[in-house]
Amino acid sequence: MGNTKSKKLWGGRFEEATAASVEAFTESISYDQRLYSYDIAGSKAHATMLEAGGLLSKEELTAIIDGLSAIEARIDEGSFVFKSELEDIHMNIEKSLIDDIGPAGAKLHSARSRNDQIALDLRLYLRDQCDRFMLLLDETRRAFVVLARKYMGQMMPGYTHTQRAQPVLVSHHMMAYYEMFGRDRERIADCRKRINIMPLGAAAMAGTGLPINREMVAELLGFDSVTANSMDTAGDRDFAIEFLSCCTMIQLHLSRLSEELVLWSTQEFSFVQIADKFCTGSSIMPQKKNPDIPELIRGKSGRVVGSLMSLITLMKGLPLTYNRDLQEDKEPVFDAVDTVSASLSIMAEMLGNLKFNTQRLKEATDTGFMTATDLADYLVLHNVPFREAHGIVGRAVAVCIEKGCELTDLSLDEIREFSPEIDKDVFDVLSVEGSINSRVSTGGTATLRVEEAVQAAEEQMSIVGD
Ligand code: ARG
Repeated sequence: MGNTKSKKLWGGRFEEATAASVEAFTESISYDQRLYSYDIAGSKAHATMLEAGGLLSKEELTAIIDGLSAIEARIDEGSFVFKSELEDIHMNIEKSLIDDIGPAGAKLHSARSRNDQIALDLRLYLRDQCDRFMLLLDETRRAFVVLARKYMGQMMPGYTHTQRAQPVLVSHHMMAYYEMFGRDRERIADCRKRINIMPLGAAAMAGTGLPINREMVAELLGFDSVTANSMDTAGDRDFAIEFLSCCTMIQLHLSRLSEELVLWSTQEFSFVQIADKFCTGSSIMPQKKNPDIPELIRGKSGRVVGSLMSLITLMKGLPLTYNRDLQEDKEPVFDAVDTVSASLSIMAEMLGNLKFNTQRLKEATDTGFMTATDLADYLVLHNVPFREAHGIVGRAVAVCIEKGCELTDLSLDEIREFSPEIDKDVFDVLSVEGSINSRVSTGGTATLRVEEAVQAAEEQMSIVGD
């Protein structure tokens, strides 16, 4: 490029070749090569716009488009050689294009900087990831609806403080996760809106004096609009932080679910059986069947939170506009994408093979005074103030604990000793089934309400019943 000392595309003003140590330290091609298809799509749209504005001839445009397609094919099949002395994905592709097609290739970078180019690549990449994540979240949500339908009517203890609290339907518990991952999906869809804004044309950071048409590039690449301020555009990674916070929330939900699965699959709980093919054994203890998948998903939340923290910390001290620090955004983004997508997909698969131990759940639900609140509510309906009712039931529970029995084991006379308001219809209230089905408030665990929720979800997820 008219300079013998530096072989870089930017080497014009340099007297010395870059030190090998600097090349090794500054390169990003070892990881940003994953952006190649977006870089090429962006370059094709950019070239198309340059031609429309008279900055490229028709022949030059054809040469550029064909040249880029040939490079993409070589990268696809693995024969393209990435060079770290060419720093990053942008220059690896551009240099190869110039080598392949000559002067037309050298015109491609008109009205463009790597600063707006990387912003474009990252937005295109994350837009695809949003679409992929929505599908993965739907797969996981579908697995919960299928479980909710399969175990409809099955009761289990609901917990607060990890202490038995009130009986619920297994399906109600499953639908809680359906809601959580539904919010994650909404968040991703919303984040996608702010990702899908076209940054090219900001150039280095001040815009360009060359005749460009940003709206045309936006349309060619399926963006909703173009960014409004070139300085903001060149230094903005809010969209990536937002994406990583969505990722963190998803992994957090996966981690809470994993914690329950680990707990539920212990011998002490024995609420569920995780299929053998999702567990591993111990090299020393022959009896062991370990829930490694949920444990690893739970463990991997550390890296996702870490990725979010990396990017936030990276950004906090940066003056406008582009700073090379920004190159450090990619690895945390890629790692979070890989971690969350792998976790979601294996979780959905594992849920599809999950079995609840219905007998054990029944035993667990029949003990632990879980209908105590129902007895208090019964008294409230008989005009006893709730605080008083609370005290009456508390005393009844204390007596039962002493006797080693449940509330349902008391005779009517025994139970009336605690309050004359109690009548024989109390036993309906003390039954687990009665308790569950009385909770008809919107969002409650009554079979009626849960059935409605599951049906609505089946419709939403296009699940056809049998
Ligand atoms: N590899 C760089 C990055 O990821 C691309 C932009 C480089 N721009 C520059 N002025 N050196 O951020």
